[in-house]
Amino acid sequence: MNNQEFLALAESASDALKVLQITDTHLFGDPEKDLLGLNTRNSFRAILDSVKSDNQHFDLVVVTGDISQDDSPASYQAFADEIASLNKPVVWLPGNHDDGLIMPDLLSAAPLSSVNRVCAGTWQLLMLDSQVRGFTFGELESKQLEFVSDCLEQNPDLYTLVFVHHNPVPVGSRWLDQHRMKNGETLLQQLSRFPNARGVVWGHVHQDWVQQREQLHLIATPSTCIQFKPRSEQFSLDKRPPGYRYITLAQDGQLSTELKRLADNAFVPDLKAQGY
Ligand SMILES: [Fe+2]
Repeated sequence: MNNQEFLALAESASDALKVLQITDTHLFGDPEKDLLGLNTRNSFRAILDSVKSDNQHFDLVVVTGDISQDDSPASYQAFADEIASLNKPVVWLPGNHDDGLIMPDLLSAAPLSSVNRVCAGTWQLLMLDSQVRGFTFGELESKQLEFVSDCLEQNPDLYTLVFVHHNPVPVGSRWLDQHRMKNGETLLQQLSRFPNARGVVWGHVHQDWVQQREQLHLIATPSTCIQFKPRSEQFSLDKRPPGYRYITLAQDGQLSTELKRLADNAFVPDLKAQGY
């Protein structure tokens, strides 16, 4: 990721910045391949079709990791080709399933960008890398935490929203929570020192989960493919359909979100699967 550059979005015609969050596409290089009985390429395409049919204005797409399931260049190329059809700027960050080393080469051509900071109006959005290579859990290296504090200290007038792959707090599923961001509390304590910090948005847990902690919105969003059953002790898939989220950031710092899902039974994985 590039620490020096940032993406500046033109002021929106409306008075709010609207972000589309897409997460955990888990694409394969082979378009025919399934993940636990669900074709991830087809579900991703269905999500993009759904976004288009929403006919909603949005300014930016943020992709919160696990773009690829097999780390193949072909999987990333497929992602870039498909997401370009939205005709919007796209920023991304790596998840535990990704190859963070090859991604910048494959995902930096317009409309995609590998910057880790986006500025628009009264807001700055920070993209963090919580990947620990070779492990499922996440952790922010000290330079990532320094990046956050630098952005907050240098821009006290901007409202700040952080995007990252791993959940910084437990979401109530024992098997998933052991794979959360190890130093998530450090991040939240750092953010809570700044009144204009507005929250953290992540993927990884493949479910809708929203909480408020003082001024911080804590938000997890469903995957575009398989869903994990909320509040499960052990690995368990959910029959709820794939989804995505719109996040509206008002000029006065207010944040609101709208969760969208595909139709019931449109993409159902093998619900008896024991893991992946
Ligand atoms: Fe994932």
